[in-house]
Amino acid sequence: MYSLFSKKLKNNTKNQFGSDQLQPELMPKHIAIIMDGNGRWAQKRHLPRVAGHKQGMEVVETITKAASDLGVKVLTLYAFSTENWKRPAGEVNYLMDLPVTFFNRFVPELIKHDVRVNVIGDTSKLPQKTQTAVNNAIEQTKDCQGMVLNFALNYGSRTEIVGAVQTIAQDVATGKVDPAQIDEQLFSSYLMTDSLQPNGDPDLLIRTSGEQRLSNFLLWQIAYSELVFTDVYWPDYQPQNLVDDILAFQQRDRRFGGIQVKEGENKNK
Ligand code: FPP
Repeated sequence: MYSLFSKKLKNNTKNQFGSDQLQPELMPKHIAIIMDGNGRWAQKRHLPRVAGHKQGMEVVETITKAASDLGVKVLTLYAFSTENWKRPAGEVNYLMDLPVTFFNRFVPELIKHDVRVNVIGDTSKLPQKTQTAVNNAIEQTKDCQGMVLNFALNYGSRTEIVGAVQTIAQDVATGKVDPAQIDEQLFSSYLMTDSLQPNGDPDLLIRTSGEQRLSNFLLWQIAYSELVFTDVYWPDYQPQNLVDDILAFQQRDRRFGGIQVKEGENKNK
């Protein structure tokens, strides 16, 4: 892991964005990003909102490559929430076209970077063209062994949790699950992130654009994630920003509810 990481850094990103300051042993395995600020980015430039989404898609490409080069195992991007259907039809249609454009253009690059595409969310409600683009990308990258690029598309955490509860209830009713067996691990296995195990839970959650909300994103999975809120609008987000946010993560003291035990100190004290 260390040698692969250093080799990738050497070949691609070393010193480019201060990434040589990162500590390989403290790299977040799973980074989740709420890509916010596309509309404001466009507004600032007197452009239509969709221009922000277009530039946001370019940034998805850049940040995917950077995260993969840095040795991240899973990158989850919140591309469309269950609440985003409330937006004007023209904007929703544009957002539904983006995966088509993105995958048509970018799948060969993903394969070159050994990146596998995965999706969480109810894709059955997406337009047929979007479903086809997503399914093709998943199929074309299925043998890739490197980072997983996990798009949350028509995703909402409460819907996901309710769905898990329904399926568990059915499994209890048919005798497949004994209620006494239900614990955190079993519950997690009914969530859409189960296929990402052992990295189903993000270590680091980043939200761009200055907003400090979770917006129904991975509520169960972020129980112990470190949260980083940055003022940068998503269309302006650069690999340097990603490195800075990972550096902030690496300075956090992750205790998972325990206490930090210094060397030579007795934790039972
Ligand atoms: C939030 O910004 C952003 C979204 C709802 C869409 C995010 C989508 C992308 C960045 C492109 C995804 C690309 C692919 C390949 C699927 P906002 O519009 O709410 O911004 P605002 O808060 O400034 O209005």
